[in-house]
Amino acid sequence: MTDKLIIFDTTLRDGEQSPGASMTRDEKLRIARQLERLRVDVIEAGFAASSNGDFLAVKAIADAIKEATVCSLARANDRDISRAAEALKGAARARIHTFIATSALHMEKKLRMTPDQVHEQAMQSVRFARNLCDDIEFSPEDGYRSDMDFLCRVLETVIKEGATTVNIPDTVGYAIPELYGNFIRTLRERVPNSDKAVWSVHCHNDLGMAVANSLAGVMVGGARQIECTINGLGERAGNCSLEEVVMAVRTRRDYFKLDLGIDTTQIVPASRMVSQTTGFVVQPNKAVVGANAFAHASGIHQDGVLKARDTYEIMRAEDVGWAANKIVLGKLSGRNAFKQRLQELGVTLESEAEMNAAFARFKDLADRKSDIFDEDILALLSDESVTAEAEHYRLLSLSQKSETGERPHAKVAFAAGTSEFHTESDGNGPVDASLRAIESKVQSGAELMLYSVNAITSGSTESQGEVTVRLQLGGRVVNGVGADPDIVVASAKAYLSALNKLHSKAERVAAQG
Ligand code: KIV
Ligand code: ZN
Repeated sequence: MTDKLIIFDTTLRDGEQSPGASMTRDEKLRIARQLERLRVDVIEAGFAASSNGDFLAVKAIADAIKEATVCSLARANDRDISRAAEALKGAARARIHTFIATSALHMEKKLRMTPDQVHEQAMQSVRFARNLCDDIEFSPEDGYRSDMDFLCRVLETVIKEGATTVNIPDTVGYAIPELYGNFIRTLRERVPNSDKAVWSVHCHNDLGMAVANSLAGVMVGGARQIECTINGLGERAGNCSLEEVVMAVRTRRDYFKLDLGIDTTQIVPASRMVSQTTGFVVQPNKAVVGANAFAHASGIHQDGVLKARDTYEIMRAEDVGWAANKIVLGKLSGRNAFKQRLQELGVTLESEAEMNAAFARFKDLADRKSDIFDEDILALLSDESVTAEAEHYRLLSLSQKSETGERPHAKVAFAAGTSEFHTESDGNGPVDASLRAIESKVQSGAELMLYSVNAITSGSTESQGEVTVRLQLGGRVVNGVGADPDIVVASAKAYLSALNKLHSKAERVAAQG
C-alpha cells in the first residue's frame, strides 16, 4: 500500500523572498513552465496583493499553467484574499493560501492582537476565501513555536470553515526532526476534524535541518504535502530543498512507501534555471544538483563504479537530468538540429521571433566556440536578446588591454535605446575597467553587491564564463547574468543586463508577508 506525497513548490514565493532573488514576471513564468515540466503538484506563484508586479506574475502563471495547481499567498484579510482570487481567475486549478501568525511572540509583538482576535480573523478569512475558491490552504505562521492548545483550536476552526490543506510552518527553522514529527502527529491526533484536510509541512533551514524536519513531518507526523524550493532557495538559510526531499523519497522508496508525481529528469534543468535567473550559485558539493554530486574523484571509488555502478552510486546522474557534458551541436548545425535539441531539453520558445533570436545567438556562439554543450544552449536562452525582455542597453563591442605591471584599460561601445555610446576607463583589472567605463556613461549610482564567475561546462578552460552581477539601487535589488567565452565580455553583458532590469518598468517584487 502506498499513498501520494504532494510536492508544493514555493520557489516563486518563499524562494523569491530571499534578498536579491526577486524575479521579473517573464522570469517567473519561465520557471513556472519548468516546474510544470518537473510535474510538481502545486506552484505557489507569488503573493498577488503584495504589488502590482506580483499580481501580474501570478496572473500570467495562472493563465499559462495547465497541469499543476497554481497558488497565491494572501494575508488573512479580505483585500489580500480578493486579490489572490482575482489573479487566479484564469487557472485550470487554483488555490488560495492564507496565513496569520499564531505564536505568542508574533501575536503580541508583530500583530499586536490577542489570541481571540487571531482566532476570529483566521475563521473569517477562511470563510471568505472558501466562497471564492474550493481549494484553500491555511498556515499558522510560526506554527511550530505556537501554543499547542491554541493551535489546535485555530486549526479545528479553519478546517470547519473549509480549509482543505493545513500547513504547519517552522518559520524560523527552529525545529528538530523528532520533535517536529511528534508536533505534527499530536496536532493530527488532537484536532477532532483533522482527517478532513491534507496536512502539510513547511520548514526553513536555519539549523540545516529543513529536509530532515520535513521528512519527519511526513513519516512521524503523517503529513502528505511538503513545501519546498528548487536549490533550497529562500530567506536566510533557505527552505527545504525540493531536489533533496524528492530524491530521498524516491531513492528510499523501500522506507517511505510514498508515490510522487515528479519527473526527476527535470531536476537539474530546473536547478540550473533558478540559479541562472537569481544569481544564487549552487555549491559544488550540494546534494543531487551540485557539480560534484556524481563525481567520483578517489581512485578506489572510480574503480568500484567502473566495475559496478551501485558500489558507490545510490542514484543515477541521468535520472536527475545530468547529461554528461555532451558535444551536441557545432558550427555546421542547422536550424532544425537546434530546434530538435531545444525540444529534447524541454525548452519551449514562445514565438518565432524568440526562436530566430535564439538561433542567431547560437550561430554567433558557434563561430567562436567549436563545441557547444547543452549547458551553453541553456545559458544562451537566458540572454535577454532571446527572451524578448526589455533590452535598453546592449553591448556592441569591447576591447581591453592588460599587461603585467600596467594598469588595465578597457574601451566599450554599447547601445542605450537608439543612442550609441563609446567609453573607456582604467581599472584594477580588465573587468573593473570595463564596468567602470560603462558606469561612467550610465551613471546609475547602483551599488555592486555581488560579482561571480562560473565556468558553464566544468573541466575545461574552453568553457564559456557565466557572470552574475547583483546591483542595488534605492531599495531595489536586481541580478544580471551574461555568458561568453571571454569573461570580460561576459562581465560587461551581465552588468548591462542588470542595468536593463533597473531600467525596466517590469516591477520586481520581494513578496514579504
Ligand atoms: O515560513 C512561513 O511561515 C511562511 C508562511 C507564510 C507559510 O512562509
Ligand atoms: Zn516560509
